[in-house]
Amino acid sequence: MKVAVIGTGYVGLTQAACLAELGNEVIGIDNNSSKIQMLNSGEMPIYENGMKPIVISNMKEGRLKFTTDINEINGSQIIFICVGTPPGSDGKPNLSYVENVANQIGNVLKHYAVIVEKSTVPVRTADWMKLILRNKLKTDFDVAVNPEFLREGTAVDDFFYPDRIVVGTDSPKADAVLSELYKPLNAPILHVSLESAELIKHGSNAFLAMKISYANMFSRLCEKAGADVETVMKGIGLDKRIGESFFRAGIGYGGFCFPKDLDAFVSVLEDHNVDASLLKAVKKLNDSQAEHFVNKIVSVMGSLKDKRIGVLGLAFKAGTDDMRLAPSIPIISKLHSLGANIYAYDPKSMDNAKAIDEFKNINFVSSMCQAVEGCDALAILTEWPEFRDLDFNKVKESTNLIFDGRNMFNINRMRSAGFSYHSIGRK
Ligand code: UDX
Repeated sequence: MKVAVIGTGYVGLTQAACLAELGNEVIGIDNNSSKIQMLNSGEMPIYENGMKPIVISNMKEGRLKFTTDINEINGSQIIFICVGTPPGSDGKPNLSYVENVANQIGNVLKHYAVIVEKSTVPVRTADWMKLILRNKLKTDFDVAVNPEFLREGTAVDDFFYPDRIVVGTDSPKADAVLSELYKPLNAPILHVSLESAELIKHGSNAFLAMKISYANMFSRLCEKAGADVETVMKGIGLDKRIGESFFRAGIGYGGFCFPKDLDAFVSVLEDHNVDASLLKAVKKLNDSQAEHFVNKIVSVMGSLKDKRIGVLGLAFKAGTDDMRLAPSIPIISKLHSLGANIYAYDPKSMDNAKAIDEFKNINFVSSMCQAVEGCDALAILTEWPEFRDLDFNKVKESTNLIFDGRNMFNINRMRSAGFSYHSIGRK
């Protein structure tokens, strides 16, 4: 099939590259010319596991092209809208990029196409998009909603092996076109209305965020009651009705999806006069988890004035260079404001981290060893697998004090190795 993907961020680039890999002819469109230039020269604007080889091979084979020219949507049977919906100051998503793209499509499209909303948007946005398009387009068209469930770091795998594909549309023709596109994935396809598809996306992310806050609530109780959060969440999650995944306690969820989607969904609930207090509590607990971690450090170390703290990990999770709303930001800012000198290392996100305002007074080092060297305490803020290879004999030459925000290590082994090891929800 011939497909256009508008927006080449995490979602759009994955969609474009993976659809090309399935044999479709794909054009990726973005108004950011430096991004398009990078892609056309084989460079990735983001780090995403397994993405580069797919992009390069499909470009070579002529199935994948990138351009800034919106007119290139002509010729495509399907047009995916994958532009950002960043939060506004009131927590509601800013839909101006979606609106602009709908207007642009309306201005240039010359033939029937299925126009698909892939960005995460409040319920009934597709209806509103339809109005914009109907006012502009002289041709017939259909609108569909096909939410993404891609995790950064595993986006390519998530595309090829989805638990389900949600296709929301009120047009049997659009439904058939999208079902054909996704047929090679052999995944269950849920055929629903536009509104249900929009709610499935917000509902999934809000539920996952709720599971994490539930685990974090338990972590605090476990610390006081002398239980082990890992064991408790496993015991709860082994009930198939609940499930073990997304039940890890830590320093709180971050990234560009969960925090913003939760805020947006709270607004959706409130706009419809539905009580949103359940999800507000999820957010409140998450927002205070970083502070809880800092308090733990202060309760062990006392004053942090002129203490050197080595930090391992800055990205909001392992496997990505993304720093957006990473819990490391409030944690490091607070440690720094309490007088600590921070020496931080992350395997992938250093460039993005250096651009963060709150980090302008911290020191960035280029290896795990340099972060550890001479520190009074070590804080682990992202669960990068390579941190497991830490040379603990070397760590001990500097400090025996470790604060692990991601529960990476076995507590008994760490203690018998002589470390004063403090993790989350484990006594
Ligand atoms: C998320 C959704 O999973 C994906 O379906 C959606 O489309 C985009 O948003 P992503 O933001 O890439 O994906 O990250 P995810 O792997 O879901 O993790 C989000 C945050 O939750 C991270 O900060 C992670 O560290 C944290 N997390 C995750 C926990 O604290 N505990 C867990 O058990 C799982």
